[in-house]
Amino acid sequence: MSATTLERPQTDSVRLERTPDPCVMVIFGASGDLTKRKLLPAVYMLFKEHLVPPNFSIVGFSRSPMSDDEFRSHMRDGVEEFGGPVDTATWQKFAAGLRYISAHPHHPEEYAKLTGVLSELDRERGTGGNRVYYLAVPPSSFLPIVRNLQAAGLAQPEQAWARVIIEKPFGHDLESAQALNCELSKVFREEQIYRIDHYLGKETVQNLLVFRFANGIFEPIWNRRYVDHVQITAAETLGVENRASYYEEAGALRDMVQNHMLQLLTMTAMEPPVAFDAETVRAEKVKVLRAIRPLCSEDTPHCAVRGQYGPGQIGGEKVVGYRQEPGVDPNSNTETFAAVKLHIENWRWAGVPFYLRAGKRLARHATEIAVQFRQPPLRLFEGTHAIPPNLIVVRIQPDEGIALRFSAKRPGPATRVRDVNMDFRYSTSFGMASANAYERLLLDCMLGDPSLFASSRFVELGWSLLTPMLEAWKNHPAPDFPNYAAGTWGPAAADKLMDYGQSWRSPSQSDDDAATPME
Ligand code: BG6
Repeated sequence: MSATTLERPQTDSVRLERTPDPCVMVIFGASGDLTKRKLLPAVYMLFKEHLVPPNFSIVGFSRSPMSDDEFRSHMRDGVEEFGGPVDTATWQKFAAGLRYISAHPHHPEEYAKLTGVLSELDRERGTGGNRVYYLAVPPSSFLPIVRNLQAAGLAQPEQAWARVIIEKPFGHDLESAQALNCELSKVFREEQIYRIDHYLGKETVQNLLVFRFANGIFEPIWNRRYVDHVQITAAETLGVENRASYYEEAGALRDMVQNHMLQLLTMTAMEPPVAFDAETVRAEKVKVLRAIRPLCSEDTPHCAVRGQYGPGQIGGEKVVGYRQEPGVDPNSNTETFAAVKLHIENWRWAGVPFYLRAGKRLARHATEIAVQFRQPPLRLFEGTHAIPPNLIVVRIQPDEGIALRFSAKRPGPATRVRDVNMDFRYSTSFGMASANAYERLLLDCMLGDPSLFASSRFVELGWSLLTPMLEAWKNHPAPDFPNYAAGTWGPAAADKLMDYGQSWRSPSQSDDDAATPME
């Protein structure tokens, strides 16, 4: 069964536990791709499943001229294309709460229109003055919008709540992230600010903490005594697509490592929290980042490798190199692959390397966390072949699940050993598709739960770790770009990051395929 055809979870029990207050979500950048592909399909699904109140309303705010009805029909197309089939009766109820304002978000005088529409919605639909402001706009618009909201008296409503969701990138280095945090804090209190990282909305990412802390058998071996090293991979087969102007400025380290991969790293390495609440969990993650050995620009060649794809083949089709993609500088120095080696200097992890790699146009689409254990102290059965060490692989996507690799005796008169897998798959165990990550995150924001959002401290520590590498790479353009062919596992230099006896995995579709016969 493919994930898309699986049934959705039953939501009754969730609904009883968690229903947000009536509110209006104002989307800045409402005519853009994110709104159509992710946000509207997510809120429509929340509405359809009765996870938001029936008077939930949306105001789209963007420069493109559109009427309310044109906005509704544009959004319906988006939901159908990127979400799934739309039920006409449900859509009509949902669409009754959609409004659109065509205005320049940098112009303070335009906010009178917003105030008017919001008051009208409060009056007509009983939305109670509660607001979520979603900034689905380029970073240069974050502060102008936030300041205009303040000037219009919309940031701190009386007897109601207002929260702001900020899309990535949150700054482009440490200094800019600190400046942004500082300016935001002049308008909103920290508990009103939701820095979104869509990886935290993925079921498989949330399950990491359940896997570690709701089971008694993994935690005792989750440390330097038993773990040899950890590899976290985010491999994409897609290229830069139509985002060259953003990606040319960002590159893989900023785009994936600073946010998504550091979140995965901290959830893999953090200590058990004393309670499962936002403050405690976020504090434990911050402790991991604080324990990472700082890097300086001089270390970069030993602890980080960058790559850029050249022409190659993906799924049997020829594809162009990064420098030939539309909108990319033909001499671009932007990395489309980054691998880093980090050391967490605390009692649990001292001496265990954590390897992170992210890249575009790699051999396979796979995001996973692989925890490789030490070999047994005595190799009784080894014979002439090496027995692969135990491994736990958390498959974040696709083919979501968790596999444990261990050795087993092959049936027969001789003692021959090979590795096999115990494999948990979401699709077979739960028989249901995971929700779009934005559904969970938008709902949490409306409920006032910031657990799955990045704190200001997390963001700043992430930048302070990576800024030396970014500077070194900027100051020393890569002499060998492009250094990997599209459709491969990245530059050969990434292998040199590994300690003796360690090597990168090639994540396979099913980890059973990867089990190697040992005879
Ligand atoms: C985004 C990056 O944050 O994450 C993209 O900007 C990347 O470049 C995407 O493709 C990957 O997300 P996912 O959910 O497909 O793994």
